Amino acid sequence: MEDLARYLDIATIAAQSAGVELQRYWGNLNDIQEKRPGDLVTEADRAAEKAVLNILNRHLPDHAVLAEESGLQGEWTDEYLWAIDPIDGTTNYAHQYPCVAVSIGLLIRGVPSVGVVYNPIQNELYRGALGLGATCNDRPIHVSKTPKLSQSILVTGFAYDRHSTPDNNYAEFCHLTHKTQGVRRDGAASLDLAYVACGRVDGYWERGLSPWDIAAGIVLVQEAGGTVTAYDQSNFEVRSDRILATNGILHAELSQELLKITPLSLDFGLGFGAS
Ligand code: IPD
Ligand code: CA
Ligand code: CA
Repeated sequence: MEDLARYLDIATIAAQSAGVELQRYWGNLNDIQEKRPGDLVTEADRAAEKAVLNILNRHLPDHAVLAEESGLQGEWTDEYLWAIDPIDGTTNYAHQYPCVAVSIGLLIRGVPSVGVVYNPIQNELYRGALGLGATCNDRPIHVSKTPKLSQSILVTGFAYDRHSTPDNNYAEFCHLTHKTQGVRRDGAASLDLAYVACGRVDGYWERGLSPWDIAAGIVLVQEAGGTVTAYDQSNFEVRSDRILATNGILHAELSQELLKITPLSLDFGLGFGAS
């Protein structure tokens, strides 16, 4: 029997410890670097990641870790693999736009099983584990009951390779903006999933993400009664490219809309390939 409650507590302590670093550096950054165009890393990312790793290494030294800034400790195939994003929403963080979170997910044999998503700026702590439900600040959360896409609000995001590929989600964004009451782009995938889980939005889709962006949020959505798959409703693996998360009721309708869309073509005039 897995000790999911214990892992959830350890993940919570780790997220809170990283949250102290996010609060400390908020509005006070000296070192902002670009890893690739638009993809930032700051001293706050590094300090927060160190704080998480300290806690995990102290309590669970045998578990593998995949952390955005320092990479893989252990193996992908290890039974227990923690996926850590020390700041999900670093661009927001650098601009003091308060959609930022520490995201800590545990994959057990590849299955997202424990998730903590913590926004220390807005003081929202989302927690979930398989079979144990999902909460925000200790209150149970549930997905929305919105029955139709035409009555829904959605959220999505755009990967950093959006400048160099026509498969950049712009066509999907335009199409679904017309089909719904609105599509938001908040800039932190883990919070996008947490917002589906608590019913603040009805659905979320995105491509080009990494396991540390989504491992924790997937658990929240599933434990809050929602559905997570690939765009075509096939099983989602954390290394798959396209994630679709909804309240469940809208899932088939949103999937069908996404599958209709052809990415904007290279002749759209967006200058792909130009520097
Ligand atoms: C990014 C955010 C954003 C998503 C990007 C991610 P980062 O993470 O989650 O919402 O659209 O694809 O890379 O770089 O802020 O950790
Ligand atoms: Ca991220
Ligand atoms: Ca990050």
